[in-house]
Amino acid sequence: MRAVDIIRKKRNGGALSGPEIAFLIEGSIKGQVPDYQLSALLMAVYCNGMSAEETVALTSAMVSSGVKLETGSIQGVKIDKHSTGGVGDKTLIILAPLMAAMGLKMPSIAGRGLGHTGGTIDKLSSIPGFRTDLGTEELAECLKTAGFFINGQTDQINPADKKIYALRDATSTVESIPLIAASIMSKKLSEGIDALVLDVKTGSGALTKGLEEARELANLMVRIGTSMGVTTIALVTDMDVPLGRSVGNALELKECISALKGNFAPDLMEITMTLAAWMLHLADVVSEETVPQRLGENLLKRYKDEIWDYIDHGDAFAKLIECVDAQHGNADAVLNPALLPAAGHIKPVISPWKGYITRMDAFAVGQASMLLGAGRGTNDDIDPAAGIIIGKKPGDAVNAETPFATLHTNDPSRLKEAEEVFLSGIEIGDREPLKRKLIHEVIFPE
Ligand code: URA
Repeated sequence: MRAVDIIRKKRNGGALSGPEIAFLIEGSIKGQVPDYQLSALLMAVYCNGMSAEETVALTSAMVSSGVKLETGSIQGVKIDKHSTGGVGDKTLIILAPLMAAMGLKMPSIAGRGLGHTGGTIDKLSSIPGFRTDLGTEELAECLKTAGFFINGQTDQINPADKKIYALRDATSTVESIPLIAASIMSKKLSEGIDALVLDVKTGSGALTKGLEEARELANLMVRIGTSMGVTTIALVTDMDVPLGRSVGNALELKECISALKGNFAPDLMEITMTLAAWMLHLADVVSEETVPQRLGENLLKRYKDEIWDYIDHGDAFAKLIECVDAQHGNADAVLNPALLPAAGHIKPVISPWKGYITRMDAFAVGQASMLLGAGRGTNDDIDPAAGIIIGKKPGDAVNAETPFATLHTNDPSRLKEAEEVFLSGIEIGDREPLKRKLIHEVIFPE
């Protein structure tokens, strides 16, 4: 087999076989297929797509590029949650300690920021010393003791995703349904989990902007997970507006710390509580060997009351501290967030006139945050302190005197352009807009 022939086949719209896909992925990890050939394949997939069968083969080749975590001897249901990515989407850092406090085990392999979307690994890396490149033995220990870990792809676990993830970011091939599905599911299937809740984002700040596309991605990932023996469901949720009250790495981490102490923005609370309820339900499904059911209002409410107990009594926050310790981070910075990175330059943003915010475009906010230094853009360095605090959201009243957001950066030359981009995504109207629906639908295995 030759890489060039496989690339040509995909470029011409053909379907690749399992062995052809495995040849390229394996060859790339062994250094026999250079990055420029893998990049060419990614572009061909971006342009011509992949069938479900090819996507399953790609996922499986990516899992096989490294080791799968051995979690069989660890007590408790192993479950994870993964989002397809958005702006201000920080739920994993709240859910993982919460689920661990409630007795579940959450081994989470997450990613860095992709394009305008933030990445959990970047957010956690703002804790001094926090390591996201632990080896399998340390990860297993962390899972056993703290009840969860959040690690990146490594040379041991899914090195293919580590490589492809960076190449997609650099070759503008991020927004491809099969590549997103294989990237996410290969990480999840390397974790040794029993069940998985996916949060598939839709809207301007998502990788799949339209509802139909998001639904297609959700169905594909549920199918991959189920076919590989993991009980999987997907929620399709809104990403037209940034989630919560902050965008940017250390700023979002601070928001997670507040949330774990019970102080949630309403949209962040609704999404987090709903995902948590579905995770608890799936853990019951796995233990009782039944099939996932639609959660009725009462069931959602019951889980919610139980969940709040673990937040109110401090158990979830205590789990975060335990994990930060286990992953070599400075837990003092979590106990006292004033020790986390903070920007040297903060600029308030004021509305040009009085009215209600009727639109806050997540993509524009994500781009503005990247310009401030929170995303990778053209080089690999990110500023952990950069980002945006959003004081008012759609539906809130603003006036021409009081700031409704603040821009944070260590490079003041970035402020002007970032403010223009941020404001390009804001609309102010005379009338309060209708409340947005946050959770569009739940996708079950067929
Ligand atoms: N999250 C991932 O892990 N991979 C993607 O491709 C997109 C979001």
